[in-house]
Amino acid sequence: MRLGRVFTIRQKINADYFEICDLELVSDFGFGASDFILDTRYSILDTCFLILLECPMQKQTDYLEAIKTKYPEQVIIAIAKDPSGRPNPITLGWAMTVSFEPPMWAIAIAGEHYTPSCIRHSKCFTIALPSADQKDAAMFFGSRSGRDLNKFAACPHHCATEPAKEIDSVLLCEAVANFECTLEKEYPAGDHIIFIGKVVSSTINTDPNRRLYTLGPGHKLGAVSAR
Ligand SMILES: Cc1cc2nc3c(=O)[nH]c(=O)nc-3n(C[C@H](O)[C@H](O)[C@H](O)COP(=O)(O)O)c2cc1C
Repeated sequence: MRLGRVFTIRQKINADYFEICDLELVSDFGFGASDFILDTRYSILDTCFLILLECPMQKQTDYLEAIKTKYPEQVIIAIAKDPSGRPNPITLGWAMTVSFEPPMWAIAIAGEHYTPSCIRHSKCFTIALPSADQKDAAMFFGSRSGRDLNKFAACPHHCATEPAKEIDSVLLCEAVANFECTLEKEYPAGDHIIFIGKVVSSTINTDPNRRLYTLGPGHKLGAVSAR
């Protein structure tokens, strides 16, 4: 469905000029993408209709403005033990699956965070896919540093853990799913470090729940609705 404008143009009999007489907004004339269509199907005597369709176009803009259009973005919680054996959870939006066989994930973490040193130390990490109900815990893990506190112990929101099955880490009991990863490689990428993990064990929640997403700029978290 496209919105267009119809101009009624009349040519005066025996005159070699046209007059624009009417201007009216219309929708869905069934035309394909085109800037400009001269349609004579509607010709009545000396009258024809000129239809100008409004076409979408790209305009160059600032990166920070354009990147606001990327939402919704998935939220994951990565967990790696620090040198004292304390599991440290971090909330991440920059995460993706990168290989099917073997199954692998990539996560991008800012170099100044505490988590890179935890992952390098333990050489493994959990990727938990939090449910929408875990929104407050995700915000807590994403706004405090494990350098300053034990995030699981200090978290004022319920967030139960259980030991991972194949790696030295923990799983989030109420997450939609957990993936246990061994560290394969790391790559610098601008101001972030990409850690690649190979999945060695996967679990899913027996009580299905909706996943947590970032819905808009400023860490606006929630579930994605199909409606
Ligand atoms: C929704 C959300 C998404 C985030 N995504 C990322 C991300 O992709 N990469 C990153 O380095 N930090 C991200 N952060 C910020 C870290 O989670 C945050 O700085 C955290 O406190 C670092 O913890 P750490 O110092 O214990 O490693 C995100 C935070 C939130 C709330």
